[in-house]
Amino acid sequence: MFQTIIASMLEEKIGLSAEAVGADTIAKAVRRRMTECGLSAGDDDQGFSLYLSRLRSSEEEWEKLVEAVVVPETWFFRNQASFSFLKGYVRFEWLPEHKGQVLRLLSIPCSTGEEPYSAAMTFADMGVPEEIAKGRFHIEAADISEKAIQKARIGIYGLSSFRGEDLSFRDRYFERLANTDTYKIHTYIKNMVRFTKGNLLDSRILAGEKPYDIIFCRNLLIYFTRTAKEQVIAAIDRLLARDGILFVGHVERPLISNSIASLRFVWIRQSGVFACRRAGQTRQRQSDSPRVSVPGLRLSSPEKMPVSNETQGIESAKTQVRSSLLSQKITSDLTVSSLDSMLDEAQKLADRGALNESLELCQRCLNEDPFHSRTHFLAGVIYNAVNDEARAEEYFNKTVYLDPNHYEALSHLALILEHRGLFHGAARLRQRAQRILQREGT
Ligand SMILES: C[S@@+](CC[C@H](N)C(=O)[O-])C[C@H]1O[C@@H](n2cnc3c(N)ncnc32)[C@H](O)[C@@H]1O
Repeated sequence: MFQTIIASMLEEKIGLSAEAVGADTIAKAVRRRMTECGLSAGDDDQGFSLYLSRLRSSEEEWEKLVEAVVVPETWFFRNQASFSFLKGYVRFEWLPEHKGQVLRLLSIPCSTGEEPYSAAMTFADMGVPEEIAKGRFHIEAADISEKAIQKARIGIYGLSSFRGEDLSFRDRYFERLANTDTYKIHTYIKNMVRFTKGNLLDSRILAGEKPYDIIFCRNLLIYFTRTAKEQVIAAIDRLLARDGILFVGHVERPLISNSIASLRFVWIRQSGVFACRRAGQTRQRQSDSPRVSVPGLRLSSPEKMPVSNETQGIESAKTQVRSSLLSQKITSDLTVSSLDSMLDEAQKLADRGALNESLELCQRCLNEDPFHSRTHFLAGVIYNAVNDEARAEEYFNKTVYLDPNHYEALSHLALILEHRGLFHGAARLRQRAQRILQREGT
């Protein structure tokens, strides 16, 4: 009975579902706290009764119990694809559209800080000078656990926080503490994040704060009751900017699909990325306005672009593969959605040389879904065809950010770099494209 009462308190106050975390986990935490309070956790009810009174009257004991039941599991760059997407989104969408504004990112729950620090490192990797980055990126992070927040503020991490395959960020942004397996985060990254303690179920959490352009709320809702999930989604709805993006954990996507659909959020359709944005909030952007007027030009194929002698043979062989991959993709996607049909129409227009009309359709597709990699790619190909290399590069870059395995976009980018004499960068892109082909062939 007492266990049930305590489980209900946890449900009501912090959203924790006994079913999701396991009644056993809660029972163990309660017994541990009772022992630490010097109360008998035996079969008689007296110890439980005393503990319940203490829990009801002492804020301090309540917090200790919360610390004992929460799951602080986290690590740097958890779900790497989401951070790659974040980088592309901020660099190619957000910054150009919000000139002079401060990007506000919230990580809640942030646990011991690995998630907001990963966002800070992602921004630092964009190469924005430190002085400018300070004014341009504002990262806030909150968690119900005081212990977790304190650890985050200290910024020293053991090996379990570094789990991915690519740990190169550790060399860039951490210092190994002598004779230990612990790493201290650089002050520059540490200072990019502001930590606070907060309960997502508190209806006034972060009240009065300006809206956030990006919210990470990952790996919490899995532990929550249905009612608590709805409360969190309402809080996110209140805190997220009108054109904001919400990142969730991969197992949470199906759990909240219905709730967010009713708030008109749509999922970002990119493999490995678990994020959504509000529908119908995209604006016509200057950088996406159709700007070519070269009637009668057909879509360029990469072999028509200037290439260096030594790569020409390889390129024409690759071009055949590229063309077949592209046409396969187009035919297999034909009936997938109206967006894809619209893009197919844009492709046909481009093939007929109606480049302005094709770009107009691309623009409409991007208004519907600014993260549609096929549209960015087609726009890149069209700009390439009219020798607007800078704009073509911009669209191919976006394509690669949205779809890191886009062989054709990588190959086009390699050619553009070669054209500018940047052979080292071109070779790196080519190697990357080659690895994709090899993977697809195995
Ligand atoms: C599994 S961690 C997730 C950390 C990070 N978002 C991630 O995905 O790696 C879950 C965190 O949720 C926090 N938490 C649990 N209930 C909460 C609540 N009601 N409000 C805020 N944070 C909460 C816990 O303290 C814990 O640190």
